[in-house]
Amino acid sequence: MAAGGPHIPVLIDAILSHCAPIEGTWLDGTFGAGGYTRALLEGGAERVIAVDRDPLAFDLAAEWAGGYGDRLVMQHGVFSKMDEYGQGLDGVVLDLGVSSMQLDLAERGFSFMKDGPLDMRMSQDGMSAADIVNSADEGVLADILFHYGEERASRRIARAIITARPITTTLELAGIVEKCLPRAKPGQSHPATRSFQALRIAVNNEYDELYQGLMAAERALKPGGKLAVVTFHSVEDRMVKRFLTARAGKQANANRYAPETTQAPAQFTVKSRKAIAPDAQELAANPRSRSAKLRVAIRTDAPSGAIDAKSIGMPQVKGTL
Ligand SMILES: C[S@@+](CC[C@H](N)C(=O)[O-])C[C@H]1O[C@@H](n2cnc3c(N)ncnc32)[C@H](O)[C@@H]1O
Repeated sequence: MAAGGPHIPVLIDAILSHCAPIEGTWLDGTFGAGGYTRALLEGGAERVIAVDRDPLAFDLAAEWAGGYGDRLVMQHGVFSKMDEYGQGLDGVVLDLGVSSMQLDLAERGFSFMKDGPLDMRMSQDGMSAADIVNSADEGVLADILFHYGEERASRRIARAIITARPITTTLELAGIVEKCLPRAKPGQSHPATRSFQALRIAVNNEYDELYQGLMAAERALKPGGKLAVVTFHSVEDRMVKRFLTARAGKQANANRYAPETTQAPAQFTVKSRKAIAPDAQELAANPRSRSAKLRVAIRTDAPSGAIDAKSIGMPQVKGTL
């Protein structure tokens, strides 16, 4: 990602084409720099309800948002509550993770490349990363690193964190993690990448937000309404895939040679079984799109319901923070 550059919307052309025609009222659950919202408003949506948990996102949009008048409704909040912000929606779009603006501002504490307070709160309230790092039990810390960051050296890193506490800055933490791991080879990601991702997910409760958000989208979309979700790592993509597979009336992980068992009713029809990835042109123009995956589904008229978090592979950390 270009340091200090604007946030480049990922897979937006693919979203517009797979969801065509774009019309009616859409909800953008991750407004960020407003790239998706603007593309939807320019691409045929009559109205967009733009949601973000970060109040700063809307401040930054003040310059241009007024130009859309009442076609753009800005809503500070979390996308897990989207059905409280809109009903009978024609479309919902989610672009998970942090924005370039959040990463680039050292004082937000998301980046292991910039020195800042160990914060990572998208909504700028609640428990910060420093609160977790300095108060969680060693076992809970190790579980966060392992389950949310897929960090294999989780126990070693958790031990080193406990020994070094209190830790207050991003570079202090990055240095502690680096000492626990072999030096990165050329082309490999920075050793602190997984630990920072894990803490960010814990601070912002990201997996529960995704799980609740998918169910909220099911409640908020009208029959024929479209759901487009862009994820950036395998755990998120697996959750979206399993949710949609289950809601499309298919069994997740079913043996492909076994006869397909369909459990009516299905709440979604999946547009393509395989996730949609950026093409070579987008990859060249925007390295941040490298790990992005898009899944699109269409809401049916079956009643909405609930699904078990475990059944869609949501990692859960036991113990209190
Ligand atoms: C990757 S950026 C979105 C960028 C946007 N699509 C664009 O084109 O500018 C993700 C944004 O979603 C917000 N966000 C993440 N999780 C959220 C949640 N559960 N509810 C509401 N906003 C969330 C973050 O604060 C961030 O601003």
